[in-house]
Amino acid sequence: MRFLSAGESHGKYLTGIIDQYPSGVYIDTGFLNMELSRRQKGYGRGGRMSIEKDKVEVLSGIRNGKSTGSPISFLIRNRDWENWKEIMSVKKEIESSRAEKPVLNPRPGHADLPGILKYRLDSIRDVIERSSARETAVRVCTGGIAKIALKTLGISIYSYVTGIGSVVLKNIINGVDSRILDAIESSPVRCPDNSASEKMAGVIEKAIKEGDSLGGKFKIVVTGVPPGIGSYIQWDMRIDSRLAQAIMSIPAIKAVEIGDGAISGSRTGTSFHDEIFYSREKGFYRKTNRAGGIEGGMSNGENIVIGAVMKPIPTTSTGMNTVDIKSKKSRTSLKERSDVCAVPSASVVGEAVTAVVILSCIQEKFGWDNIEEILENLKCYRKYVENI
Ligand SMILES: Cc1cc2nc3c(=O)[nH]c(=O)nc-3n(C[C@H](O)[C@H](O)[C@H](O)COP(=O)(O)O)c2cc1C
Repeated sequence: MRFLSAGESHGKYLTGIIDQYPSGVYIDTGFLNMELSRRQKGYGRGGRMSIEKDKVEVLSGIRNGKSTGSPISFLIRNRDWENWKEIMSVKKEIESSRAEKPVLNPRPGHADLPGILKYRLDSIRDVIERSSARETAVRVCTGGIAKIALKTLGISIYSYVTGIGSVVLKNIINGVDSRILDAIESSPVRCPDNSASEKMAGVIEKAIKEGDSLGGKFKIVVTGVPPGIGSYIQWDMRIDSRLAQAIMSIPAIKAVEIGDGAISGSRTGTSFHDEIFYSREKGFYRKTNRAGGIEGGMSNGENIVIGAVMKPIPTTSTGMNTVDIKSKKSRTSLKERSDVCAVPSASVVGEAVTAVVILSCIQEKFGWDNIEEILENLKCYRKYVENI
């Protein structure tokens, strides 16, 4: 499957088109709306999230609750558009008194300066509107649709926050049960450890008071993936490279690791690689998963574990030094209403883009067209792997 998104942060709608999604999948839009609300939560989010109550409206590709195999298109309304109608007007005719003055002070850490230069725009507004992470609502909805197909195939995805600013979760989770999943979902920062969760909320509180912002880290875990999706035969077929691209495409993500990737360079081979064992009950298995479920660009049957690092939010209420692009005079950067920390939301977006990559890799190996067919092929392959 693949997808495209369109829409501006304060435009009327965000829209998505999903192509090559299998037929025969029951799509529960209630689940999609729940996914959208998970993206909107999290301590440290700005005022915008209290205005928006994201809901998906499906326009095509689903009939009587079931995917048809045709492109799925959908929209999500921007409630805030009501307050931005004039500024975001598609038509040119608008009273000049109501039009926005050109935005000329680029914010450090944003798309603002390279964007206005690249597209020869008159106002940074045009860059802000599309480069905004509001677009990630489309990815979460698309990822939700991918997750539904994956669930039918016995594949699940979850995520949790492992660090905000200087606060780091020390006890990394080795496996989850419903109690830990509940703890993640009920934490205001999506961290299952109560004490770390409180400390994370504390540093966000401090950043809010100081007019500053924060970033952090999160993990995404995929369970139930069969061995052998992705491939080593071409560079762009490697599942690790595809996951890294997907996670890196999330605004403000600056580093991605697979398994213990970031520390692997300081380990010896015998202390790093996951030794291979075999038993009749388990088949091939590992006692460790430092490779994060991927070897040679393919899943190896263990959980896929991805880590991501998010930089601090670039818009800060204290502002930073910048330059007016017309007058070239020094200015303080624009203080648009903004999140102070969005790591919990980014982890939900991370789940979504991971779901799209995993489903695409599954479709490449087991078929594209129909979910029953994919399931049969997958069952047959799982049996082959068990009996080898
Ligand atoms: C869920 C989410 C919410 C974000 N919210 C904001 C925000 O409110 N204000 C802001 O300045 N940046 C926010 N960002 C980060 C910017 O979108 C991002 O830093 C910017 O587009 C520049 O892209 P880059 O950091 O990848 O270079 C958010 C990112 C994510 C993933």
